[in-house]
Amino acid sequence: MTPSSLKSLVVFLALFTADLSAQSDDDRLPEPVHRVNRGLSGLGKWYNIDTGIWESAGWWNGANILTMLGDAALARPSYAPFQLLARRSFSNAIRKAPAKNPDPGRETPKNGNTVSLKVAPPGTKYSKYTDPKTWQPHSNYPDDWFHSEGYPSTKDATGLLLTDAQYDEAVLLANFTPNAHNFLDGYYDDDLWWCLAWVTAYDVTQNPIYLHLAEDIFNAVATTWGTNCGDGGVYWNYNRTYVNAITNELFFSSAAHLANRADNTTHYGDWAQWSLKWFLASGMINVNGTINDGLDNECKNNNGAVWSYNQGVILGGLVEHKRRTGDEYWLDMAIHIASSALEVLSDENGIIHDPCEIEKSCGADGTQFKGIFMRNLQKLWSETRDQYLHDAINKNAHSIWHKARSGDVFGNNWAKAFEGPANASMQGSALDGLVANVLLN
Ligand SMILES: *[C@@H]1O[C@H](CO)[C@@H](O)[C@H](O)[C@H]1NC(C)=O
Ligand SMILES: *[C@@H]1O[C@H](CO)[C@@H](O)[C@H](O)[C@H]1NC(C)=O
Ligand SMILES: *[C@@H]1O[C@H](CO)[C@@H](O)[C@H](O)[C@H]1NC(C)=O
Ligand SMILES: *[C@@H]1O[C@H](CO)[C@@H](O)[C@H](O)[C@H]1NC(C)=O
Repeated sequence: MTPSSLKSLVVFLALFTADLSAQSDDDRLPEPVHRVNRGLSGLGKWYNIDTGIWESAGWWNGANILTMLGDAALARPSYAPFQLLARRSFSNAIRKAPAKNPDPGRETPKNGNTVSLKVAPPGTKYSKYTDPKTWQPHSNYPDDWFHSEGYPSTKDATGLLLTDAQYDEAVLLANFTPNAHNFLDGYYDDDLWWCLAWVTAYDVTQNPIYLHLAEDIFNAVATTWGTNCGDGGVYWNYNRTYVNAITNELFFSSAAHLANRADNTTHYGDWAQWSLKWFLASGMINVNGTINDGLDNECKNNNGAVWSYNQGVILGGLVEHKRRTGDEYWLDMAIHIASSALEVLSDENGIIHDPCEIEKSCGADGTQFKGIFMRNLQKLWSETRDQYLHDAINKNAHSIWHKARSGDVFGNNWAKAFEGPANASMQGSALDGLVANVLLN
């Protein structure tokens, strides 16, 4: 551990311990909240206060970990430590995370936030590729990406995060205007994870700075709308070859979220409607009611792996879409997709697994997936109070805690004893499961 990361750890832990003891009686916390607290202490090991994201996890993973912190805050509005942690993490990341964008400048803003596509040779900086046999995505980061050495450190903040005014949300955001361009890296799924993270930040804080940033990111991606398939949709990335499920689900879900929050409801509502219609006609949902990885060169379902996150993101979008349209049909559709997914992805004890777990090849990306699924199952449960979803969330959270845990860290296979090494991606994913369980109670 470098002196700088040690300092980050101290600072992150100080944030919790000081507040938890201020709460006076940790023992009286409901068990699900207590478990999230343990997991958050574990997560603090990887927090880099100088970048606002987590060492040992990638760029888009950082957006998901922030979303999880926001969901914790939304699950327990009266619990100060979750509020403080989410607010301070969001305000730190909105300023500092852009320095970690693995391929900034890939999309160039012109007049405001519209993008122009630059096609660069693959692999020069950040590249992602999908294994044609397993459909496993792999992100390749620039060589020095995981090293934060030399990154300008904050001034001596030994444990003072709580009292040092510089970490105050109001102080961090005063006179600060974020630029969506800094969150774009040429992979539209990455961009949209950040969009959803900032929507969650807005939900927690009601600060319009986050909402406007989310809108700008979405609108930048929207300028790329149109693929060779079905006269619509978005590609995975700037080189416009692969049309996949995750990017299109994220596009729909982002639009549906923004339609319920931004001023221009019609604008985002129309995008939600168009992108959902396109998605449902694309053939990505198979006869079993689950969603495959994407489309082939003939625009047919490519029969690629059924990843848990692809069964999840659509659910959160459908919940938002139902809230705006009032049409129960979208909830029925979501329940159908969720039940199909649970059937296909769960083992005999009801614990969900991604296909990569068998080969232990989930890597930097696949380790994030199940948490995203749990997060969205929870959103659907909140709207429907469906008992089947309740039981699924409960069982998985139980197994994360009782089986996959070692101290305050969690493994990738939620049905098995912890297998390390742990990292922030697996930790964030498991925490999504534990946070989902807080709301059930
Ligand atoms: C386009 O992207 C795909 C997948 O990301 C990659 O396999 C391919 O090499 C890229 N092609 C070019 C010309 O950049
Ligand atoms: C809302 O979005 C539409 C495009 O869908 C645009 O024409 C209109 O000017 C926008 N209105 C406002 C108030 O931003
Ligand atoms: C549907 O499920 C059956 C039974 O599990 C499986 O054999 C088949 O491959 C699935 N079809 C698709 C398109 O996923
Ligand atoms: C996180 O840990 C898993 C399992 O140990 C590993 O497959 C993955 O590559 C790790 N992530 C990173 C970014 O190293």
